[in-house]
Amino acid sequence: MTDQPVDAGDQLAASTSEASLRRTEARSAEIEAQIAKDPSGFRVMTGDRPTGNLHLGHYFGSLANRVRIQDAGVETFILIADYQVITDRDGTGPIRERVLGMLADYLAIGLDPSRTTIYAHSAVPALNQLLLPFLSLVTDAELRRNPTVKAELEATGDRPMSGLLLTYPVHQAADILFCKANLVPVGKDQLPHLEQTRVVARRFDERYGRVDPARPIFPQADALLSKASTVLGLDGTKMSKTKGNVIEIGMDADTTAKLIKRAVTDSDRFITYDPANRPEVSNLVLLVSLCTGREPIEIAGEIGDGGGGGLKKLVTESVNEFFAPIRARRAELVADPGYLLDVLRRGNAHANEIGNATLDEVRAAMNMTY
Ligand code: TRP
Repeated sequence: MTDQPVDAGDQLAASTSEASLRRTEARSAEIEAQIAKDPSGFRVMTGDRPTGNLHLGHYFGSLANRVRIQDAGVETFILIADYQVITDRDGTGPIRERVLGMLADYLAIGLDPSRTTIYAHSAVPALNQLLLPFLSLVTDAELRRNPTVKAELEATGDRPMSGLLLTYPVHQAADILFCKANLVPVGKDQLPHLEQTRVVARRFDERYGRVDPARPIFPQADALLSKASTVLGLDGTKMSKTKGNVIEIGMDADTTAKLIKRAVTDSDRFITYDPANRPEVSNLVLLVSLCTGREPIEIAGEIGDGGGGGLKKLVTESVNEFFAPIRARRAELVADPGYLLDVLRRGNAHANEIGNATLDEVRAAMNMTY
């Protein structure tokens, strides 16, 4: 028998403190150096909810980083988290189109299904079955205190907490642990999930034991915080579909031009790069920088008194040029749903193999092999 688990509430709160964030950043830098030397010790897992098409905020904030990690030779698992769509809404919406659209986005930007496993939540029963033993390892109080759960609950307005939202950190632990991932590229908002995942892995080991006495069944996964800059929406606030301020990866050049024309700037005609005082203008300069690889200050200096009009013209050209090949490839993929389904089914099959092997070990550790 093992003791009652120590409550993870404090650990979770601590995981979002400044000092802890600095430690996670330092650890991320160390891991990057290790990947450059030898990528074979890592298995990366991350994912997205298919609630809409992916946009430039996703691309520069996380997707480009995933491609970089894949290309560095790290084995990568990417989850299309379809079950997670219903943590904060009442229906699944046009989920099938969204799943295939997201897959097309992934492939178009350079995720390669021969090296990266892309799969859907609902297609991997073993992953979901881990939820039962994992739920035995957490308390209602610590889930209610989880900062990510709290933030999502607040964002849903008057909607009551569903069982699925309350257990969000636990199913996300199952997402990560079903394939024994040891590295999870995420944004800061997801750090409490990582801490909860480590707690679940540790408690599983304490309570249910091991198959191989030399090592726990589940690893202690690290977060990998990317250094990527945050691209804001066209109004200078967080890029988000519900705010109507996004440029989608798959949008056409004309729509992109129209949206950028309506972007918010400010009353100072002279263009500078000054994110603290001129968030809207600086964000547009940053977009040019990310698409061209040139320095923001240099770009702003060149536009100078070309004003908002000059800036928007350059943003439009840079974004459309950078995304043209990605968009062309995406259009081809979307026109071939048979191919997309084939890729997804192969990804699902591989995820099932891995998940079944993990679940076998879990059953063995729990003496449930019949
Ligand atoms: N929760 C993540 C989001 O909302 C998506 C996600 C699901 C995820 N499972 C994951 C991310 C596992 C990292 C690891 O975007």
